[in-house]
Amino acid sequence: MTETLDIKLTKTSQSRLEQTDFDNLPFGRTFSDHMLVADYIDGEWKNFEIVPYGPIAISPAISALHYGQAFFEGIKAYKHADGTVTIFRPDKNAIRFNKSAERLCMPTLPQEIFVQSIAAVVDIDREWIPTKENHALYIRPFMFATDPYLGVTPSATYKFVVLVGPVGPYFSKALRVKIETHYTRAAEGGMGFAKAAGNYGSSMLPARKAAEEGFDQLIWTDAKEHAFIEEMGAANAMFLLDGKLITAEAKDTILDGVTRDTVIALAKEWGITVEERKVSVAEIIEGAKNGKLTDAFGAGTAATIAPVGSISYNGEEYFLSDPETRAFSKRVFNTLDAIKYGTTPDTHGWNYVV
Ligand code: PLP
Ligand code: COI
Repeated sequence: MTETLDIKLTKTSQSRLEQTDFDNLPFGRTFSDHMLVADYIDGEWKNFEIVPYGPIAISPAISALHYGQAFFEGIKAYKHADGTVTIFRPDKNAIRFNKSAERLCMPTLPQEIFVQSIAAVVDIDREWIPTKENHALYIRPFMFATDPYLGVTPSATYKFVVLVGPVGPYFSKALRVKIETHYTRAAEGGMGFAKAAGNYGSSMLPARKAAEEGFDQLIWTDAKEHAFIEEMGAANAMFLLDGKLITAEAKDTILDGVTRDTVIALAKEWGITVEERKVSVAEIIEGAKNGKLTDAFGAGTAATIAPVGSISYNGEEYFLSDPETRAFSKRVFNTLDAIKYGTTPDTHGWNYVV
């Protein structure tokens, strides 16, 4: 049985919609008029409310700030030409949300409550959904610990918040990426599979160092040997090698991406062999040298399908084919777009209609 969520609504008296420049939407800087907030108190979720977007009062002692008891999700909503509003596969994010919660000793949220919460914010701010190509309404659900207590122990109280905002593309050109051989994003037994805030905090120094060397993104490798490819920045790394789609298997150091899962499903339908396995740096570099690596891209909600232009490893840069000529990633990109924007039938049931 589906529980229906009771959400109190306080609408803003001053919409910022008219002042928003929809022709200039860098990722993650514009927020809509409203947000959803809810509290976990005395072992249950309560006080679901949609309120005007704005600051939240918190104690400076919360363990989210001191010990990183915080995680998030990233999802997108789209407006079709006929005005229909859909959210792409929010059920998958609901499942991952709860995996993150469990890993961080935080409370889970019933799947339908998660989906109804985000749909409610999207619904109230549906005028904020951009209709331009490659644009969407980005949905950022997150949870953080709110006990004002400095002991290293799980908080008893939490806040669940959903922000939404119109976004343009995260990347605007083919990426110059570097295979990281010193820093590590995630180790076995760690929390790489969770969308924990701390995973992103720890990625910033290596990412900044790489940016100073002129790279757009890092390819993360395994913590033990730096010999196997894991992910690409905040996206899953996917390759077409020798005609096969290969990507790291979704084990505990890998974020089990919704886009990754979607690309794999499409590739299988198109009769392409898919291998989810250890992907060695050596085979990728060899493929880049001998031309058998015909496609490489990052797959993610923010990143969408982000083509890799060149891969650098141990000081050598290997250039891949012109992304415009890559049949596979172009087909994936176009098919995904057509489903998300409703120009092709959604035969997989991936679109949640708001
Ligand atoms: N890997 C990492 C580390 C990410 O941050 C993301 C972004 O969400 C992904 C992979 C891709 O996941 P998804 O396709 O669900 O957005
Ligand atoms: C997403 O793709 O939704 C992400 O979470 C990436 C983000 C860290 C910008």
